[in-house]
Amino acid sequence: MPPVIQAEQLTRRFGDVTAVNQVSLDVQAGSLFGLLGPNGSGKTTMIRMLTGQIRPTSGSARVLGMDVAAEPVAVREKVGIIPEQESPPSFLTAEEYLSFVAKVRRLDEGEERAGWWFDFLEFEEKRDVLCKDLSRGTRQKLMFAQAFLHRPVLALIDEPLINFDPVMQQKVKEYLREYVRDGGTIFISTHILEIAEEICTDVAILHLGNLVHAGPVAGILAGKKHLTGFFLEAVGKGADA
Ligand SMILES: Nc1ncnc2c1ncn2[C@@H]1O[C@H](COP(=O)(O)OP(=O)(O)OP(=O)(O)O)[C@@H](O)[C@H]1O
Ligand SMILES: [Mg+2]
Repeated sequence: MPPVIQAEQLTRRFGDVTAVNQVSLDVQAGSLFGLLGPNGSGKTTMIRMLTGQIRPTSGSARVLGMDVAAEPVAVREKVGIIPEQESPPSFLTAEEYLSFVAKVRRLDEGEERAGWWFDFLEFEEKRDVLCKDLSRGTRQKLMFAQAFLHRPVLALIDEPLINFDPVMQQKVKEYLREYVRDGGTIFISTHILEIAEEICTDVAILHLGNLVHAGPVAGILAGKKHLTGFFLEAVGKGADA
């Protein structure tokens, strides 16, 4: 089976800054792929290119077999996305927002699926609250629900767990694990290395826009290293650096 994500020499510059520099990367179906890297290393830029939100300066990416720059809308129809700093629209209630997403996604069972998410992430009582009045964590719950409402074969999530309390983190971790067990593919960026070690099958590490490592987590752990130590060495901040 061809990779679900195939990045070829993907590069993005903003003026003088090279945010992502010639990154080539394959993500196989059924993986829970973690994109790691220090602040400003290019993770969000990478996700935005893979979802057609910005165009690469050079290089290309195929997602689910489609060229993202050529067919950005078709890609976004198929995948689920939680962008880094996006909130649901302030003027809709939580329920209205999910109903809107269900319409855009042309889902027949939008209402049932939204109900499942209100129940699963335990925010039933917030259904009728305007998004602008929701707590940050509750807004993130809603972003989760919108990303998975159409049960995409691939979801790209920029830092999925940072706003969640420990109970929600546990639930979402389980959900993501099960999602890939059922054949889906998940691509996340994260700073929480303990969680990446726990749930990711594969990781890639960006440093100053360059890919400095990509491979299975099992391979790192087999070398008797925790992901944190491995990460610090990869970005030149290890004990020996
Ligand atoms: N729209 C933009 N205009 C100018 N520079 C940008 C833009 N977006 C990103 N950059 C720059 O590109 C580099 C990579 O940023 P990016 O947001 O991809 O990093 P990141 O790995 O997601 O960081 P963080 O962990 O802090 O979220 C940074 O130097 C950033 O300042
Ligand atoms: Mg980011």
